[in-house]
Formats: sequence, structure tokens, C-alpha cells
Amino acid sequence: MPDQKIYITRSHIIPEAITYLDGIYDIEVWQQNSPPSRALMLEKAQECDALLTEVTDIIDAELLDHAANLKVVANRAVGLDNIDIPAATRNGILIGNTPGVLHESCADFTFGLILTLARNISYGERRIRAGEWTVFDQIPYLGTDVHGATLGVIGMGLIGTAVARRARAFDMTIVYNSRTRKPEVEAELGAEWRDNLDAVLSESDYVSLHMPLTPETEYMIGKRELDLMQPTAFLINTTRGRTVNPRDLCDALSSRTIAGAAIDVTDPEPIPFDDPLLSLDNLLITPHIASASRQTVRRMGQMSADNIIAALRGEPMPSCVNPEALTR
Ligand code: GLV
Repeated sequence: MPDQKIYITRSHIIPEAITYLDGIYDIEVWQQNSPPSRALMLEKAQECDALLTEVTDIIDAELLDHAANLKVVANRAVGLDNIDIPAATRNGILIGNTPGVLHESCADFTFGLILTLARNISYGERRIRAGEWTVFDQIPYLGTDVHGATLGVIGMGLIGTAVARRARAFDMTIVYNSRTRKPEVEAELGAEWRDNLDAVLSESDYVSLHMPLTPETEYMIGKRELDLMQPTAFLINTTRGRTVNPRDLCDALSSRTIAGAAIDVTDPEPIPFDDPLLSLDNLLITPHIASASRQTVRRMGQMSADNIIAALRGEPMPSCVNPEALTR
């Protein structure tokens, strides 16, 4: 019987990775599609060597400070805002994530949102299903061109760059602001650096958010920033809901301070059914599925499993955000 124990917080998302780990370790799998309770997470963190988690599992200081056997948490995500990284490092617990396998799928999806929003694809479909297509009349559905427009990318990491690459094929002008300037992206795609967020917001026809959620980016887009956007411009958010103040977004959309928004992430998440945002026709919304292609979810599961295997063998993990934890 393998002596190292792994707790996996969902069963149906990554069956291949579970089968793979099952051959090597003693695994226990939470069988429901909602997260395990807090009490259960605390208990499993104490008794297991590794956790394989989703973005909705809260791995905070309280949990990490009491996880005597825990050596690694592999988050099946690139975002890590559900994990207290300093607390993990302090406790000598390695944290893995899954960059490099999902950016192309996220970029496909982001571009899908841009086109769907700008050309009223989902809006038109909703009107037909509501029985409102009774005459040939394009005027209520007039959209905005994407080709030749200006795309503003906030956060030029792997996903932002993959979105910019698609924008290039649409002859878009690309402007961006990011934690660090990316000369290689400027050389490859002709993206233009702006040294402040405000310039990107005011120049762009489409503003696409790709920065991680951190204390610095929490509610980074609020009334002031939305007011800087053009009344014809669109906001696209596929990163985390908490980067945008939802009430300010609702006001900007209802008063048409901006033309529309597409959001794959909300605050809170899931969004309550009676949230005023859901009554707005100029909002396109999807349920946090930007990375969710069959191929990419499988790759993310495999990478999470590989992160665990490497960490438990004392080998370099495919992606570890706090290797300094090993010196603790
Ligand atoms: C999904 O939201 C991720 O962070 O990978």
C-alpha cells in the first residue's frame, strides 16, 4: 500500500489525472461538484501529504498553519488567489499551478467573447429564441467592427500575448500596460507599450483584462477607470471577478458610459440570479469557462498530477511558485 496520501477536491473534472495518481499513491477523492466543506478541508490538510485543488478551494493561513504532513498543494489553475502563498512558504509547503497549458484556449475564448459582444451574436440569438425575429431588420442588431479597431491589453503575460496575437490577425492596433514591459511582444506583434493604465483605457475600443488578482489589482477597474473609457468601448474580463467593481460596472453599462462588457468571471462567483447585471442587454456573461476546452482541462489535470509527483519525489516541479519553501 502506498504510504503517501493525496486528497483531490473534485472527482469529475480530471478523471485521467486521478487514475494516474491512483496507481502511485493512496488517494481520496471528494465526489461532489461543489467544494468540500471547510471542516473537511482542514481535516484533509492535516492528514495528507498533498492536496489537488480547484480555484474555489480556500487554502488560507489557518489551513496551512495546521497542516503538519502537507508538502504540496497543486492548484488546477494558473491563478493562485485562493492560496495564501506566504503562509505556504512559511510552513515549507510547495505550491504548484498550471501556466503554459491553458493560454491558447483562454485566448480563443477571449476572442470569442470580443466577437460575440461586438457583433451582437448572443444578443441576436436571444431575440430569436424570445420569438422576436418577425421581420428582416438588421438595424436593432447593428454591431461594431473588430477588425482595424484598437485592443487594449492589461497584463501582457502568456494569455494577454496570445490574445494580442489573435488581434494582430484582425489588423488591430494593440496597446498594453503590464507589470513589466515586454519588448519581445512589441517586436513580434507591434504592440505599443503605455506606461499607465489610464492611457490604455482611454485609447482602446476593446479593453481586455489579463492581470492576476492580487492585492494591487483587486477592484482595479472602478468608476474612475470606466469613466476613462470611450462610450463606444467594450470591457472584457476573463481573469477574476474581483478585479472589477461590479456595482460600478453595472452603473457604467446601464448609463452607457461604456458600450458593453463581456465577463467570464464575477464577484461574487457564481453571480446570484437576481443580480442587476443580469438584466442588462449590453452584458455578455459566461460561467468561468475560458480555459475549459476538453484538451486543456486534461492538460491542466496532468500538470497538477505531475506537480504533486515531482514535489513528493523531491524533484523540480513543472511549475512551482514558491520553491523557496524548501529551505524552510
Ligand atoms: C482559471 O481560472 C485559472 O486560473 O486557471
